[in-house]
Amino acid sequence: MVGSMKNRQYHIKFPPTDPHQLSQDEAYFYLLENHEDIKIRFHDYSEIYKRPGLYEQLFYDRLKCNSPKKVRDILAKVLSDNRVEMTELRVLDLGAGNGMFGEQLQAGGVARVIGVDISPEAADACARDRPGRYDAYYVGDISNNEAAISEDLKSWQFDCLSCVAALGFGDIPASAFAHAFNLISPSGWVAFNIKETFLLASDNSGFSTLVKTLLNSDALEVHHLERYRHRISIDGRPLFYHALVGRKESDIPPSVMSTLS
Ligand SMILES: C[S@@+](CC[C@H](N)C(=O)[O-])C[C@H]1O[C@@H](n2cnc3c(N)ncnc32)[C@H](O)[C@@H]1O
Repeated sequence: MVGSMKNRQYHIKFPPTDPHQLSQDEAYFYLLENHEDIKIRFHDYSEIYKRPGLYEQLFYDRLKCNSPKKVRDILAKVLSDNRVEMTELRVLDLGAGNGMFGEQLQAGGVARVIGVDISPEAADACARDRPGRYDAYYVGDISNNEAAISEDLKSWQFDCLSCVAALGFGDIPASAFAHAFNLISPSGWVAFNIKETFLLASDNSGFSTLVKTLLNSDALEVHHLERYRHRISIDGRPLFYHALVGRKESDIPPSVMSTLS
C-alpha cells in the first residue's frame, strides 16, 4: 500500500439497524465527508474505490478481512505439495478490484498476473494504489464469449484462475466465473473463496449450483477445501467462507454453460 494511503483515516460509522436483518449485499455504512453522513452500500465498489484507502480501511482494518492472504497461502501449499513452482503460473485474477490479490500473487513471484474487473473505478484504483501489480488489467464483463476482451484473454494462455471475495451476492455471476474457468488450460489451477452457505444443499442459487456441479463433476479435482473466517460482520460476528484450490480437469461442458445466467 502506498504511504499516503496508509495514513489516511476516514470517519466510518455503522448503522444502528440490526445487521442480521440485512443480507450481506445490502449491508452499508456511513462515511462522514464535508460534515455530511453519506450512506454507501458495501457493494457499491465504485464509490468505495474512488476514495484512496477506504476499501482497505473498511474491509481489512475494521472488518479484519483475511482472504487474499489465506487463499494465497493455500494455493502456495497446494502447488508445493504438487511440486509446481508458483513462479511458473500465468494467472487470470477475476474480480481483481484494486489489486489486493494481485499484490499477493506478485509477492509470490508469479510469471504473469492479469486482472479483470467489471468496474472502471476498480481499474483506476488499482492503477492509482498498486501500479505495476498486474501485467495487464481489463475492464469488462466476460459472461459471454462474445465479450471484446475474450480474444485478448485467450492469448495470455492462463494456467491459473483466481477469484477472491468476488463470487455471488450480486458480484460475479456463475456465467462469468464459468467462462473464466474455461479460459484456463487443462490441468491448470483454480483458487477461489465462497461464502459457506453456497455449499449447502438447500442453496439453489445459480452460483451455488455451479460450485456444487464443479465439486461433483470431473471438471475440477479438489486439492484443498477449508472453512475459515473471511472477515467479521459489522457487529463483530465471524463470517465464514470456504477457500478452495483445485486442478482443472476439463472445461465446463456446453450443456452446463447453457443453463447459467
Ligand atoms: C469485494 S471486491 C474483491 C476485490 C479483490 N479480489 C480483493 O480480494 O480485494 C469484488 C470485485 O468483484 C468485481 N465484480 C463484480 N461483478 C463482476 C463481474 N461480473 N465481472 C468481473 N468483476 C466483477 C467488483 O467490481 C469488485 O471489484
